[in-house]
Amino acid sequence: MLWEYIQPVTIRFGEGVLGELTDVVAGLGCSCGLLVCTPFFVRSGLAEKLVAESKGVLVDIYSQVSPNPEVSEVDACAQLIRNKEIDFLVAMGGGSTLDCAKAAGTVCFTQDSIRKYHGTGVALPAKHLPLIAVPSTAGTGSEVTCVSVLSDRDLGKKGPIVSNNFYPTIALVDPELTYSLPAHITAGTGIDVLSHAVEGYWSKGHQPVCDALALHAAKLVFQYLRTAVREPDNKEARAKMAEASVIAGLAFTLPKTTSSHACSFPLTNLLHIPHGEACGLTLDYFARINAEAQNGRVHAFARDLGFQDAYAMADAIYELKKDIGLRLDLKEFNLTDEQVADLVRISRHPNLYNNPVEITDEMLNEMYQSMR
Ligand SMILES: NC(=O)c1ccc[n+]([C@@H]2O[C@H](COP(=O)([O-])OP(=O)(O)OC[C@H]3O[C@@H](n4cnc5c(N)ncnc54)[C@H](O)[C@@H]3O)[C@@H](O)[C@H]2O)c1
Ligand SMILES: [Zn+2]
Repeated sequence: MLWEYIQPVTIRFGEGVLGELTDVVAGLGCSCGLLVCTPFFVRSGLAEKLVAESKGVLVDIYSQVSPNPEVSEVDACAQLIRNKEIDFLVAMGGGSTLDCAKAAGTVCFTQDSIRKYHGTGVALPAKHLPLIAVPSTAGTGSEVTCVSVLSDRDLGKKGPIVSNNFYPTIALVDPELTYSLPAHITAGTGIDVLSHAVEGYWSKGHQPVCDALALHAAKLVFQYLRTAVREPDNKEARAKMAEASVIAGLAFTLPKTTSSHACSFPLTNLLHIPHGEACGLTLDYFARINAEAQNGRVHAFARDLGFQDAYAMADAIYELKKDIGLRLDLKEFNLTDEQVADLVRISRHPNLYNNPVEITDEMLNEMYQSMR
């Protein structure tokens, strides 16, 4: 088996590492930074505090990032970067914020809209701004991935752009930032971590380093996610979920995600189910479909996690979702036949082809029918 492992992002992890931001910036040798975040951190006062403490190197804030960021937000952020002659970015937030900053940090060197590169196969130019990624969810792992997931509501599409430009320069992973996450976001983002680990493992692009990372991350999620949801102030559970998130990011960015992420795009786009919850919705279903794949590898993964086999792992995923208050089906949407057909059609996303078992439209249809 031929494989390669590359990971260019420096990761600094621990309670309080956000306090190192000014020193980290000094190390980059940059002087004119933009803080990218969501309105939440403006309301909480943390955005202003970071700017005030930055000794003048953070010169402005772009805070108009929404969940599942829009191509128009990337373009607006890129325009601000051009106007202010920004030379580095700090992105503080969930995957949406990090992904918006990643794309803006490249497209700012062109006069293009990011639309030109979103799902079109047009390669991005290589030049990009240094990015310090500060994740506040646990989460997408975007702080260590080469992926930016964007939405284009006008065209009704959501999907990733993959580029080596998108590896942040440094990830500052401070679990304290996740203490303010409400239970429902903790639950949804936490099941996203499990999806990254499990899908990274069974992806057709799997490889031994990422396998080991996937196993570590999945173990932490099964052990700590319930506690993080039920006891938001439990520092150990928050730290372990932050660890799981960054390590699951490392586990999937090279092998890429598979079927559950492919299906999550229409579930989010058409039914507005948050990203992590949308991935989790189908994860146990695909664990059953993939159970016998890859000469017993999926069973072996499940056994290493302490389950009898992959079917028992699928049951455990279902129980975990139930316990943390995530959706288990799509009944509330009263889906029409047409909507089911749309879900099937749009789930045929490139990530689906990384799944170890070939997924047919009949299989997708059967899955969505069973959730109605
Ligand atoms: N780039 C990647 O590698 C990658 C991987 C998986 C998913 N994604 C994408 O990332 C996006 C989802 O990111 P996400 O799940 O982190 O959520 P998010 O960034 O969309 O944030 C969800 C909500 O949580 C709030 N929030 C974030 N941090 C908070 C905190 N500490 N306290 C209180 N509220 C907080 C946000 O303001 C927002 O309202 C999706 O678009 C998804 O497709 C990217
Ligand atoms: Zn994800």
